[in-house]
Amino acid sequence: MPDPEGDRGEVHILAIAIHPDHRRAGIGGALLEHALAQGRAARCTIATLEVRPGNAPAIALYQRAGFRTVHVRARYYQDNGEDALVMLSELSRLMWSAPSPAGAGDAVLRVPK
Ligand SMILES: CC(C)(COP(=O)(O)OP(=O)(O)OC[C@H]1O[C@@H](n2cnc3c(N)ncnc32)[C@H](O)[C@@H]1OP(=O)(O)O)[C@@H](O)C(=O)NCCC(=O)NCCS
Repeated sequence: MPDPEGDRGEVHILAIAIHPDHRRAGIGGALLEHALAQGRAARCTIATLEVRPGNAPAIALYQRAGFRTVHVRARYYQDNGEDALVMLSELSRLMWSAPSPAGAGDAVLRVPK
């Protein structure tokens, strides 16, 4: 959500889900980076999300995009009372780039001009 009066807006990621037949193809990472780029364009300064501690694929995806765990929210999930990890990424000038579809290289950090 942008802050119209300054640089305090926040992107909150509610859900990313990829069909099981199409996972590990870079789609989730691309969607996440698109959301973060939209946030940067709107002058948001942080992105946050909640994730289940046992969701290793999602945690790996988020860590790769620069998120780190900053808090554990107790009994967050209503279906089983599970805790949630609260993860945060600072939307600095450094931007994460996914590998090209052709697999031409590793993820890189780039600095916009
Ligand atoms: C989490 C999810 C969205 C990832 O989508 P995806 O399109 O498969 O992810 P990507 O292919 O873009 O993967 C990007 C990176 O995330 C990490 N990652 C993704 N899936 C992973 C897995 N199963 N195990 C370990 N790391 C994984 C890797 O670092 C990966 O990079 P790499 O493939 O070069 O190693 C997908 O697994 C999913 O839909 N899960 C079910 C829904 C869900 O749990 N959503 C999150 C709710 S908070």
